[in-house]
Amino acid sequence: MIEEQMDLIDKQKTIAVLTSGGDAPGMNTAIRAVVRSALYKNMCVLGVRRGYAGLLAKDVVKLNLRSVSDCLHRGGTVLYSARCPEFQSEEGVEKAKEICKEIGIDGLVVIGGDGSFRGARDLSLKGIPCIGLPGTIDNDIASSDYTIGFDTAVNTVMDMVDKLRDTSQSHDRCTLVEVMGRRCGDIALHSGIACGAVAILLPEVPFTVDEVIKKMQRTLNTGKKHFIIIVAEGVTNKGDVGSIHDIAREIEEKTGVESRATVLGHVQRGGAPTARERVLSSEMGYHAVELLEKGIGNRVVVSHDNKIVDFDILEALNMKKEFNRRLYDIADAISI
Ligand code: ADP
Ligand code: F6P
Repeated sequence: MIEEQMDLIDKQKTIAVLTSGGDAPGMNTAIRAVVRSALYKNMCVLGVRRGYAGLLAKDVVKLNLRSVSDCLHRGGTVLYSARCPEFQSEEGVEKAKEICKEIGIDGLVVIGGDGSFRGARDLSLKGIPCIGLPGTIDNDIASSDYTIGFDTAVNTVMDMVDKLRDTSQSHDRCTLVEVMGRRCGDIALHSGIACGAVAILLPEVPFTVDEVIKKMQRTLNTGKKHFIIIVAEGVTNKGDVGSIHDIAREIEEKTGVESRATVLGHVQRGGAPTARERVLSSEMGYHAVELLEKGIGNRVVVSHDNKIVDFDILEALNMKKEFNRRLYDIADAISI
């Protein structure tokens, strides 16, 4: 990244941008949109490295048009990301406010999840206008239909499971795949339907392994010989059914179908953002800068009914995420 010295900051309106929490593909596209929109609107723009930790450490650099060249198609975040426990305390937020005042930050764009939004709200209430952009592969932000990173993660899972299907089919096996998402089953649900999983095990829908086995036995009777089962990490983390390896063992014992388990892990967090991700994050980044230009803070910019809109952060944090039961039922119906 090309940077300029902090002493070049002049009297223009100055905004800053940071990424916080787990990284997600599309964060770079969002950073680029924020930087370019701000410069287009004759603002000065700063990059804060490593989230709130970097803000508290004054790890801040001035960005120019070329600072964000060649990053829109890359996963990860050029600003690095971090989790910062210190920022969750009153003293941490107060210190951040003082640092923003000292540097001359008139507004801040925070790209992250719900935790990062709480920090953005705390800082907004102290007089530094902050705008949150939903950045996480988990799609667990209730106020937004889609989060930056989700579409890429689902496509990555789909590519991986397509490869696993090749070998699963050759050996007449049952292949179980554990995917990320924390307590949210959206990555599992969407990848499960995209990959033709015979069962999708999610924290939102109670199930027993015996029910899964019964379904497998029914399809075995119709001639099906190999199986894909997608398991959300929110299921295995809960501990009710054991690990994915325990589930695979039980399935093999009770059905006689040789079973293998794969935990996909952090591969889901990387890779080039999809076109959808790039468009979404560009639009959100521009919208965030528009708000800060008007001096508006304490808002999150989200996708709601396929439109980019903004909500009060607290209102957004209090929303309840709706589980797409219909999609789950469709996946179940077409995998018999
Ligand atoms: P995410 O933003 O992806 O949900 P985290 O929950 O890890 O990820 O939060 C990222 C960072 O946001 C934390 O490390 C912390 O600095 C800040 N944060 C989280 N929760 C709060 C909170 N309740 N109040 C203030 N800041 C918070
Ligand atoms: O929130 C994104 C996420 O990748 C979750 O899906 C997962 O549970 C978690 O972060 C993993 O965190 P870490 O990168 O700290 O291992």
